[in-house]
Amino acid sequence: MRLFIAINFDDETKARMLDVQDRLRAKGRGRFTTPENLHLTLAFLGEVDEARLPSLKDVMSSLTVPRMELRFSHVGCFRRDSELWWIGAEADPSLMKLQRELISGLKAAGFSPDEKRFRPHITLARDMHIGAADRASSLQAELLPVPFSAAADHISLMLSHRPNGRLTYTELYSHG
Ligand code: 2AM
Repeated sequence: MRLFIAINFDDETKARMLDVQDRLRAKGRGRFTTPENLHLTLAFLGEVDEARLPSLKDVMSSLTVPRMELRFSHVGCFRRDSELWWIGAEADPSLMKLQRELISGLKAAGFSPDEKRFRPHITLARDMHIGAADRASSLQAELLPVPFSAAADHISLMLSHRPNGRLTYTELYSHG
């Protein structure tokens, strides 16, 4: 099973993220994240054998998840073959610590999380070609005129699958 660990948000926060996504939609075509799939990834695990789920849940439940107030203050773009646009969360020390502890716990238990540098973000759209990746900062005021904050106090184990061909993220376990 393809798994990752993420922070999910309430509908009010998602509505704010969707406002930013709507403004981005006006800039060009792309594959836009559906409202139910908006999340902040803490650790990407990839394929994990189902038999290892209990051990994974143990790692998660051993962590103390503080109540965090995450501030979403900027919009950015990762450029690969195409552009992936996201909203960035500020690097809150408790969020960064939680992510570090999660990665170490996963490794200690024998999992192989992706170890790319953690840049907390919510993916809004993939496969875009606005051609403004280098100008993400100039689109800043237009896409996210007013930063917003959201409370987070849970981490969720998410299954990434495609029932009926539709990319779906299903929460298998949550801890907080
Ligand atoms: P992304 O949004 O920046 O692509 C499910 O695929 C989640 O895991 C996405 O939020 C994705 O981040 C994240 N992720 C992190 N590392 C990944 C990897 N190596 N492959 C696929 N998804 C990854």
